[in-house]
Amino acid sequence: MIQLENVTFTYKGSEEKGNLKNINLSIRQGEVLLLCGESGCGKTTLTRLINGLIPWYYEGELNGIVKVHGKEIKGQPLHILSRKIGSVFQNPRSQFFNVDTTSEIAFSCENQGLPESEIRERINQTVSLFQIENLVDRNIFHLSGGEKQKIACASVSAGEPEIFILDEPSSNLDVAAIEDLKHIISCWKSAGKTVIIAEHRLYYLMGLADRMIYMQNGEIRREWTTVDFLRLSQREVENLGLRPASLK
Ligand SMILES: Nc1ncnc2c1ncn2[C@@H]1O[C@H](COP(=O)(O)OP(=O)(O)OP(=O)(O)O)[C@@H](O)[C@H]1O
Ligand SMILES: [Mg+2]
Repeated sequence: MIQLENVTFTYKGSEEKGNLKNINLSIRQGEVLLLCGESGCGKTTLTRLINGLIPWYYEGELNGIVKVHGKEIKGQPLHILSRKIGSVFQNPRSQFFNVDTTSEIAFSCENQGLPESEIRERINQTVSLFQIENLVDRNIFHLSGGEKQKIACASVSAGEPEIFILDEPSSNLDVAAIEDLKHIISCWKSAGKTVIIAEHRLYYLMGLADRMIYMQNGEIRREWTTVDFLRLSQREVENLGLRPASLK
């Protein structure tokens, strides 16, 4: 479904050559993929290559091929890509276009020009799937960080993209809100969606992610299933600069 072939990328003006190097990665439909690695290793940059923010928004030198459904990203404008690929950024505040929550959930549907009845149905479905009835018709700026995150996920989800990309979705959440986030991701997984998550916190994705990709200095260095990752010793996990796989 998603293919990266010999991809190398350097941000314009970056002193470092090759913020991403020699990336070869194939992601199948319905896969939940976890990108991990120390700060600055290139997780966010890799997500930007898949959602098209590179090269459309972030300039730089891009070599290699990124394809979604066999079609190169390069030739597809962002508004077309965003129908197929929904992104939730690290700070959900940065992606809101509305003041009230219900309009925000409707936003991606409105962008696609869906009829009003369909939009209403999708809002109702999403609200009930994510169990966020208490967040309907609220002022977004009066919500907690975790609640904002749920609205960002709901808005993207109502647009029914094939692929979801989340960049450090748990970074501002407490343990209870992380459980809710896990529920949202498992809903997408059950619906057969492809989900790509860049994260430092790993524990809540054990058993949910199908595959973990470990990056270092802009390259993919290791790959595990979560079962294999859980077999690594605490020392090994620490040496990789990763957080523990268990909350304990
Ligand atoms: N907009 C940008 N312009 C120039 N360089 C950038 C830009 N964004 C990231 N970089 C550089 O690209 C490299 C990879 O950064 P990236 O943000 O992808 O890492 P990351 O793994 O997501 O880190 P973190 O865990 O801290 O979010 C780093 O060297 C970073 O300094
Ligand atoms: Mg990042």
